[in-house]
Order: sequence, then structure tokens, then C-alpha cells
Amino acid sequence: MTEHGHHHPHAGHSHDEGHSHATDAELAQMLDLDALILGSYLTDATAWAAELAGHEPETILDVGAGSGVGTLALARRFPSAHVTALDISAQMLATTLGSAAASGLDGRIAGLQANLNEEWPASATADLMWASSSLHELADPERTMAEMFANLTPGGLLIVIEMDGLPSFLPERLQEGSSVVNGMESRLHASLASNGWNQYPEWTAGLERAGFTVERRHFPTQGSATPELAARYGRTFLGRIAPALAGAVSPADLASLELLLGDGPESLERRGDLVVRGHRTGWAASKP
Ligand SMILES: C[S@@+](CC[C@H](N)C(=O)[O-])C[C@H]1O[C@@H](n2cnc3c(N)ncnc32)[C@H](O)[C@@H]1O
Repeated sequence: MTEHGHHHPHAGHSHDEGHSHATDAELAQMLDLDALILGSYLTDATAWAAELAGHEPETILDVGAGSGVGTLALARRFPSAHVTALDISAQMLATTLGSAAASGLDGRIAGLQANLNEEWPASATADLMWASSSLHELADPERTMAEMFANLTPGGLLIVIEMDGLPSFLPERLQEGSSVVNGMESRLHASLASNGWNQYPEWTAGLERAGFTVERRHFPTQGSATPELAARYGRTFLGRIAPALAGAVSPADLASLELLLGDGPESLERRGDLVVRGHRTGWAASKP
């Protein structure tokens, strides 16, 4: 991906164009909901990192940390490590540090504000790096992968994670008589994908060009959520993508989206059949 400022539902705006605090606060909320419901990948991927790292890393860098769900999971997995959350957004870093303090992990977590589209910060070196749903947001991911390689300790490890698609909420087959039409979610996702939402290349070749030895793993995730929590995430997510869909999908699909976001019997809160799914892929890239 070489294009600048492409969309991601977990970004929704380009960081090259400055910041909207409301947008970052919304994004932080959505990232926290995602981790609460679909966060089993955090347990699995940090366990994978522990297995591959061999010995416990002393320093960890979370690249594009967002609200800090990865930062905190890493601090818990590696109890003697010092973890730095790097992000372009001061508000995201404040959210991360707030969660760290609330979890009693603040002594081991620091924030570093930096724009990785500019020069890599000299202090951003580590034994373990983690880049979850962030690499594809950067202007030149290949350059960043080379910078990560250069700033990792020899023998160090980089974990890259991306969402395979957008999270979905409706069951595969809707009940007979449903006014929400079958298959609408995948059509909405396809429309967003054709506009560059959540697009990333298969990172393996780029990581290998940077000098890494690469392994890949799939993290299929069906969320465990109460109906209320599933509806809250669904409303946050579908509300966020809705403005990009007007005119881009069929009137029947838009009407279905309206029913879900409305307050009638087929609304997210009242339908009672939500199943949250959000699959991820991880790359473990080792520096020899
Ligand atoms: C989709 S969020 C992912 C957050 C977190 N890693 C997670 O998995 O929940 C991407 C994060 O990357 C940050 N980001 C985007 N462009 C950046 C840049 N040029 N330099 C540093 N951080 C950036 C955003 O501010 C945002 O917090």
C-alpha cells in the first residue's frame, strides 16, 4: 500500500491532515470495545511472542498503540519488561497511560509521541516490537519495516497484526421474514474495501526484504459478548462506516442499515441474534 491517507474503520481520517479530538476519542472507545469482545487474539499473539522471543524482552515498543490494548496485554504477558506506547496522537497516549494507571501498570509503561511518516525517533529501540492495525496506516510501510529492523536488538522480534476484514455482527442466515436483507454486511464491507478501507498487502515479502525471518498465523475470533455489549460495538462500528456508504450500496442494503441503527424491533439492541466476528492475521518477524 503506497497510497497516503487511506481509510481504516479504526482510523477514519488521515493523520497527515492533523487531528480531531472527537474522532480520536471515538476511535479509542471503539478500540477498547473491540479488545473487550474480540480480544482473545491479544492473549494468543502475546503467548506466540513469548514462545518465539525465547527469553523475556526487557524493552517493548507498541507501534501505533492507539488506546493501549496491546500495550497493556504486553505489560501483563512480560511482567519485568518496560513497555513504550508510540503514537502520533497525544490523546491516544493519554488514554493508554490512563488505562495503565487504572490497571496498576503505570510504573512500567511510558508514552512516546511521534509521527512515523517522519523520522524514526532515536529513542525507539526495543527487544520486542508490536504493530497492530497500524502498519497499513503509514505512508511508507516498507521504510518503517526497515527502521523497525534497524532499531530492534539482534535476536529481537516484531509482531505485526492486521484485521482480515471488518468486524461483522449479523448471523450468516437471517430469520425468515426479516426486513434486513441477507448478505448485506458482506456487501457493505466489499464496498468499503473497494474504497481502500482496511487495505493492507500480504506483509511477508516486505518483512523479508527488510531482513526478517517470517512466520504467519491466523487468529479466527468469534467474540464473547453480552447482547448489550455486542449491540454497543455494532452501533459504534456501523455508525462509523454509515457515512461512507450512502450512494455506494443498494437502496435495500442502506434501508437494512437504517433498520439496524434505528430503534425498531430489528435494531441492534432489540434483535437478539448478534454474533460478533473479527478475524486477524499475525506475522512474527525475527531479526537474526
Ligand atoms: C487502528 S489504530 C490501532 C491501535 C492499536 N494498535 C490497536 O490494535 O488497537 C492505529 C493507530 O496508529 C496511529 N497512527 C496512525 N498514523 C501514525 C503515524 N504516522 N505515526 C504514529 N502513529 C500513527 C493512530 O493514531 C492510531 O492510534
